[in-house]
This record gives sequence, structure tokens and C-alpha cells, in this order.
Amino acid sequence: MAQHAHSEIIGMQPEANWITRAPTLKRKAILLAKVQDEAGHGLYLYAAAETLGVTRQTLYELLLAGKQKYSSIFNYPTLSWADIGAIGWLVDGAAIVNQVPLCRCSYGPYARAMIRICKEESFHQRQGYEILYTLSHGTPAQKAMAQDAVDRWWYPSLAMFGPPDTESTHSERSMAWKIKRFGNDELRQRFVDMCVPQAAVLDLTIPDPALRWNADRGGYDFTPPDYAELMAVVRGNGPCNRQRMAHRRQAYEDGAWVREAAAAYAAKRREPVHA
Ligand SMILES: [Fe+2]
Ligand SMILES: [Fe+2]
Repeated sequence: MAQHAHSEIIGMQPEANWITRAPTLKRKAILLAKVQDEAGHGLYLYAAAETLGVTRQTLYELLLAGKQKYSSIFNYPTLSWADIGAIGWLVDGAAIVNQVPLCRCSYGPYARAMIRICKEESFHQRQGYEILYTLSHGTPAQKAMAQDAVDRWWYPSLAMFGPPDTESTHSERSMAWKIKRFGNDELRQRFVDMCVPQAAVLDLTIPDPALRWNADRGGYDFTPPDYAELMAVVRGNGPCNRQRMAHRRQAYEDGAWVREAAAAYAAKRREPVHA
């Protein structure tokens, strides 16, 4: 839960990178709302984690000390506006496939937080899809930009489902506790099967020459992501790990006065009122 909460707030960074450069006022308003949603997701999930007795302060400190992680997907850079489309379509799309089963997981506070989160993620996925659709049906340069973004985000998105089940360290326990209800490989397959027809409507190519329908299995065969790269990013060697943590640390320090003011105000409200 903590890792999930951290992912939501770190995930605000790559997209916030484009808020000031969104192509229209409408796109800016949509992106602002989306990034704000992610802050809200972080809030629900920290609150859900607090039901287990840990404070939010402790969780922040564990993140800043590098003792807890966030999803590696957010260590990739957003190089063009089309990346905002690709993130919505693929990254939020993969998040939905991962998270819908969590709405029925065994821990109530987590499951309840996930219901609202998944509704908002559906909006995120559609706004990304719509950005890509607009670009891919625009000028040749816009279409090329959309394709380039999909080329760069496809494999990192597949890697969001984690290592194969045979190598996944936490899967077995999470499955036994009924937090995770499906294996990494099954969810990854579900995601690929969902994306292929959507890519056809977008008129964009999924960058995998081995991708083809397998009638025997009733799913698409595909090239798995590079798990060695995933592990390198998890260990802190992705393109943006240092930048993301430095920014988070700065934001935490810059926000200290707000936390102090809020705590002082709450303490004052608890004091008895004298006539
Ligand atoms: Fe989210
Ligand atoms: Fe999202």
C-alpha cells in the first residue's frame, strides 16, 4: 500500500512537466485535473496504510530515505506532448488492469480506496487515448510524434506488471493473503489483449514484430519486456530516478511550513473555547 501511495505522488512529476506547455487551455485544464487526481490517490492510499498503525510522516520518511520504493515507470522521462497521451493510454491503462482486481482484495480500507481510484483511472486512460487519437489523425509530424511516444512507453508499461511469476519475490505471499488475486503474467497478457485492438483504432503500431494472435491460447503472443532493465531501474539506475527523488525531497522541504501551520491550527481548534 505504501509503495502504491508513493507511486501516485511521484507519478505526478512526469506529467506535471507538460502542464505549462499543454497545447490548448482545455488540454491544460484536463491535465491539471488528472495530476490533481493522482495527489488524491496518494492521499486515499496513505490514509488506508495508516489504518495499519503507521503514520504518513513515517511513510514519507521511508520513501525519502530510499527504504520504500515507487513504481519504476515514473523513472522514464516525458520528452514530448504525445508522451502525455501514451502515459494515459498505456501507463494508466496498465494501472487499471493491475488495480481493478484490488477493488475486491481482502483488506477493506485498501479495496474501498481502489474503487474510487479505478473510476478516476478510467478517465485518465481515456484522456490519454483521446490525445493519441487526435495526434495520429493529425499531420504526419503529429502522427510520428504519437508513434514515437508509443514506441518508448510500450515496454516500460509491460514491465509495470513486474517480473514473471516464476521470479516474483512478493507475489506468493500477496496471493496467499488475497491482496493480489491474479499473477503478473496473467495480468500482462490481459493488458496486451486489451491494447492490440485499441492500437488498431488509433492507427498506431505496437513496437513488437512478434506480436500475433494465438488461436490455441486465445491471446496474443508478444515479446516480454527486458526484465534486466526493469531490475536496473528498480535499483535506482533508470533515466530519472535521481531527479524524481531530488524533486520529492525539495517539495517535502518546501511544504514544511504548510504542515506546521496546519498542525498549529488543528491544535488551536482542540483548545476549549472560553467565553
Ligand atoms: Fe492514480
Ligand atoms: Fe492515473
